[in-house]
Amino acid sequence: MPATSIGARGAIITGWGSALPPRVVTNADLMRTLDTSDEWIKERSGISERHVGGTTSELSVESGRQALRMAGLDPSEIDALVLSTTTPDRTVPATSATVQNALGLKCGAFDVNAACSGFVYALTVAHGLIAVGARKILVIGTDTLSRITDWNDRNTAVLFADGSGAVVLEAVDGPGQLLAWDIDADGSAEELLYCELGGTIHMEGKEVFRRAVRIMVDSGQKSLEAAGVSADEVALVVPHQANIRIIQAACERLGIPIERAATVLHYTGNTSSASIPLALVDALNAGRLKDGDNVLLVGFGAGMTAASAVLRWGGIR
Ligand code: ACO
Repeated sequence: MPATSIGARGAIITGWGSALPPRVVTNADLMRTLDTSDEWIKERSGISERHVGGTTSELSVESGRQALRMAGLDPSEIDALVLSTTTPDRTVPATSATVQNALGLKCGAFDVNAACSGFVYALTVAHGLIAVGARKILVIGTDTLSRITDWNDRNTAVLFADGSGAVVLEAVDGPGQLLAWDIDADGSAEELLYCELGGTIHMEGKEVFRRAVRIMVDSGQKSLEAAGVSADEVALVVPHQANIRIIQAACERLGIPIERAATVLHYTGNTSSASIPLALVDALNAGRLKDGDNVLLVGFGAGMTAASAVLRWGGIR
């Protein structure tokens, strides 16, 4: 899908929240069962520890509740719930149905699966719903990758973990925050990164790394161009948190100083759908965004999907 700039009725983010399971698994913990080292994991991925536990619905309810509270909304006011996940609690119903009930929402609810790009896909879909009449939408990105990880495989076990992030989107009269978006997929690369039903993740790490940098840069540049925003004008880039070296390489090629990247992977690991909202919420809570700042969200994932969005921060109550 070519990057698209926005002309329709827009939306702003009015609330956000995040959730990490309490159990922390350090690199030293993994060294007890895997032939690996703290040094290797940190140097090759940037990860020091990760959070493991809970179900996708439990973590979603926690982050979603925080986002609703911050937006000052009663659950009955939400018009739709869009939940991005690759690790649903059940095949049927969608995990969003469980979350809808637990949060007391009275609205349509559905899951989106675009692997680690899923949160940006979900955010884009939510803006589409706003453009055709919805007023308040809860968008959540959650994954419990620990449930589909082979804990005896050192190639993947050191990377994946669990978490959730959520935002509330509210319609505004006018263009809103989203300046441009891009979604993409290349199904021909399916065999590089997949998980059979009931199985565990298989990944060709080196090739995924190579492609990840390329497609993040490509998608990010498309969105920036469609938004009319130069790399210099990006105040914060919120990349998918898979590997610090992927983030560094992508930032370098995009021409955005690494200091402007939001990173949480050192304490979260790769949480797939949750990684971009977790990093965004972390940056927001640290006061890293002010009105008028341009934000680039950019992710990649199995499929191989890529997605990016440019937001101009502001208008928050
Ligand atoms: N500890 C110690 N050694 C290890 C480990 C480990 N945990 N894992 C692999 N090694 C070894 C390898 O066996 C290899 O040894 P060899 O040279 O004797 O064969 C050596 O380290 C180098 O391995 P590489 O694969 O070349 O290491 P690389 O620098 O590429 O890093 C990594 C591997 C971290 C997996 C990297 O390739 C990567 O991050 N790839 C992208 C992963 C990613 O982004 N996944 C996205 C998933 S998105 C989603 O949808 C879930």
